Parts: sequence; C-alpha cells; structure tokens
Amino acid sequence: MKDKPIADKLLQELDAKYKLINQDRDTHLKGLLHSNSITYWDYIHTDALLGLQIQRTNLPDEMVFIAYHQINELIFKMILWEIKQVAEVDFLNVDIFKEKLMRISRYFDMLTTSFNVMREGMDVAQYNKFRHTLTPASGFQSAQYRKIEFASTELINLIDIRFRDSIDRDTPFEHAFEHLYWQAAGKNHKTGQKSSLLSNFENRYKEEFITFMKVYNTQNLGSKFKELSLEDQQNTSLIAAMRHYDYTVNVTWVMAHYNAAKYYITGKEGDGVATGGSDWQKYMHPKYQKRIFFPELWSQIEKENWGNEVD
Ligand code: HEM
Repeated sequence: MKDKPIADKLLQELDAKYKLINQDRDTHLKGLLHSNSITYWDYIHTDALLGLQIQRTNLPDEMVFIAYHQINELIFKMILWEIKQVAEVDFLNVDIFKEKLMRISRYFDMLTTSFNVMREGMDVAQYNKFRHTLTPASGFQSAQYRKIEFASTELINLIDIRFRDSIDRDTPFEHAFEHLYWQAAGKNHKTGQKSSLLSNFENRYKEEFITFMKVYNTQNLGSKFKELSLEDQQNTSLIAAMRHYDYTVNVTWVMAHYNAAKYYITGKEGDGVATGGSDWQKYMHPKYQKRIFFPELWSQIEKENWGNEVD
C-alpha cells in the first residue's frame, strides 16, 4: 500500500505523456497488460546477428575472417557513435573531450590488441584458397573506417602528401576527394584510371562520403580540439590521450594489419598479390602514408620519423 503515491504519480506522468500526443493513457496501459515480456535474444537480436556469417567456401577458417571483420565493423560503429557525440555536444569542455576520447581509444586499442585473431587464428593454406573467392573486394572498402578518418581529423591531413600544396579550405570537396591518400591504392595518377577496388567503392559510397566530409569539415575531433580554450588545449592528459589515439590508429593498428597482410600474402603459400590489387607493401606502411590526425601535437622529428621505428 505504501507504494500508492508512487503509482499515482506515475499514472499522472503517463497521462501527461499521452495527452501530449493525443493518445489515451488507459489504452496503452491495457497494451502493457497483454504484451510479452522481453527476452535477451529478442533484445540483442542474437538470431539475426548469428545468421550474418555467410561463407563463400567450405573452408572452416573463412568463418574466422568473416566474423572478425564483422566484429571490427561493430566496433567502428561504436567509435563513430562516440565521435558524433563530441561533434554535437552543445558545450564542449576538456573533461567531456577527454572522457569521449578515452572511450574511442579503448575501442581502437581493442582492435589493435585483438589483431592476432587474424594473424594467428587462420590457417595460411586455407586463407590462400578462400581469398581468391573475394577478389576484387578488400577491407579497403570499409566505409566506416573511412568515416572514422573524416570524423577524426581536418581533411587536409587525409590528402595525399604529394598534392597537399594544391589544396586548401576553398577547394571543392569533389576535388579534395580525388586526392585523398587512399586514392593511391587504386588510381593510376598518370592516366587517372581507377581499379575495380576503387570504382566499386566510389559507386556505392562517394555521395555519402562527400556529405559526411561536409558535416565533419568543422566538427572533426581535430577541429573540436582547436575550439577548446587555449588553456584547455594545453591540458597534458588531453594531449596525451589525443596522441595515443593518433598513434594507435595510424601506426599500431596499421602495423598489426600490415604484418598480417605480409604473413598471409607473402608467405610460402601466398602469391604476393592482394585481393584489392593495390601495391600494398608500399601503400600500407605508415612510413609511406604518414597519416597523422593531429600533426600540431607532434614535433617535427616525430613527424619525420613517423612509422620508421616500427619497421
Ligand atoms: C588476414 C587478414 C587481412 C589481410 C591479408 C588484409 C590485407 C589488406 C590489403 C592487402 C589491403 C590493401 C588494399 C588491397 O589491395 O586489398 C588492405 C586494406 C585494408 N584493410 Fe585489410 N587485410 C586483412 C584484415 C583486415 C581487417 C580485419 C580489417 C578490419 C576491418 C581490414 C581493413 C582494411 C582497411 C580499412 C584497409 C584500407 C587501409 C588503408 O587504406 O590504409 N583488413 N587489407
């Protein structure tokens, strides 16, 4: 009986809620009386989730490859989810920024430390059989990975180093897009011809990317950091968190990925050719790409040596 005032209050609140949308509260309460109770499997959609790993061969380790990529995509989704909150927050301060950046970093740390699932979790001979069924697809075509880059840094930092001088804030997005660093994986810069890897990817995502690039042009983590007060920008633990994220995404993860590629593609069973067809040995190494999200937070020497120390 002592709960009655609470129940009365809840009824009043429900009444107010449903009046606002011209609905009858009691009809909704009757619905509640008859609705089924929730279960774990309905809420998490486990059956749907576990039905998404569809192999193209009967080789058992292809399952590892598919499932691990899907886990990566789910984590990418969580990273983008956190970055969006930084982009949209009304008042950003150093504490919110740090908290979100640590969340984002923990996800990328997880991806980096778990990469052995790829490197050690598949039989090389099996990999070199099922990978032929995947040509010309590649993880290169992960749209969420590209979105994480757009949402993390100012666009200029994603432009191929050879073309940076010809691009500034007034350059149309279409033009900047054509000079993103990753165009080098599939574009012949002399003839302009694009590989299937690249043209398939652009046919599916280019428009979406351009819209995304526009939205994050001023809302990316790098720009948001520069919007903090000068005092906040000097915060040592925030700077350490920014540098950690930058290094994890652009060196540690890249090297874990590169070493896995080297192990499978150039091992005795591999033929040296990537499914996406890029000149991957050169393209993927951080010392060539020199992709750095927050260049202002690294010294000249650190930038010059980017990726050299992990060779
Ligand atoms: C045995 C495992 C793997 C191998 C051998 C491999 C190999 C490659 C190669 C050779 C490329 C260059 C493009 C090409 O020509 O295909 C590439 C790009 C890429 N892969 Fe993987 N990959 C593996 C696992 C993964 C995983 C688990 C992910 C996570 C989603 C991933 C995401 C990417 C991304 C985002 C790129 C583009 C990187 C960039 O543009 O710098 N890869 N991969």
